[in-house]
Amino acid sequence: MEYQRILEEIHAALKDVPQKGMVASYIPELRKIDADRFGLYLLTLDKQEFGTGHFDTPFSIQSISKVLSLARALEFVGTDLWERVDVEPSGNPFNFLTLLELERGIPRNPFINAGALVVSDVLLSHFDNPKEDFLNYVRELAQDGSICYNEAVAASEKATGYRNAAAANLLKAFGNMHNKVEDVLDFYFYQCSLSMSCRQLATTFYMFANSGKNAGGKTFISPSQVKRINAVMLTCGFYDEAGEFAFEVGLPGKSGVGGGIVAVHPGKYCISTWAPGLNEKGNSLLGMQALEMFTTKTGYSIF
Ligand code: DON
Repeated sequence: MEYQRILEEIHAALKDVPQKGMVASYIPELRKIDADRFGLYLLTLDKQEFGTGHFDTPFSIQSISKVLSLARALEFVGTDLWERVDVEPSGNPFNFLTLLELERGIPRNPFINAGALVVSDVLLSHFDNPKEDFLNYVRELAQDGSICYNEAVAASEKATGYRNAAAANLLKAFGNMHNKVEDVLDFYFYQCSLSMSCRQLATTFYMFANSGKNAGGKTFISPSQVKRINAVMLTCGFYDEAGEFAFEVGLPGKSGVGGGIVAVHPGKYCISTWAPGLNEKGNSLLGMQALEMFTTKTGYSIF
């Protein structure tokens, strides 16, 4: 398969389109990002790599980090986690609060903000220095010690994260948060501020295409846990657009409001895109189009 040519064709077809979506503005620091950034990167299971555009420029991975915190938490709490967080698509935006009240503090899934806050709470209960542990975990997965949090992005979200504070307080009121609300929020904002390039992102997600082993061959999670996490990515990774992503792209994947998307084809490859303009559901507009073109041109989706 001529992957490099295919990535370049997709990049050329989309990079100058007039409709690129809107850069996230509710986190003030993210407003500064240039909407013309556009990168694509592919890592195959046999470690061939292909990239085009801004695939080596770090960006804020935001909600994509929720997959990594989930994987980390499952190492410690195992299936007990599913008593505290469900695995159903929410059919609503990532920061929607009504369901949390109706469903008495059990978030629909670990990728909406409320669910990710419960996962953060688990990590806080387990580690004395959760921020340090999580960063080391991600660096080890990626085999890359240069990956960092973006302090400015974390501070910016902390200053304006009223909806997350509301969700965290509701969780606390329902007894589904064991640590202090402000500590859980602080960790969550740092986790979301992780900065990675498309290359680093696809490398970090290699284990989800490789039965739980990272690119260095070390086992982090079991094949059964990979199955569960990929299933939740497929059904919940794009919030109220999860059906659309499965329909258009046909891969488990996860988006973030920094404009990144990562998707995996178990046993075959990891692919990542970065285009900061978002559609009205908060997912990267060009990223979704690029991935649709990729699986259509190659014929390699899970379906
Ligand atoms: O909590 C938030 O709103 C952000 N830190 C993350 C949201 C996000 O990335 C949603 N994804 N598309």
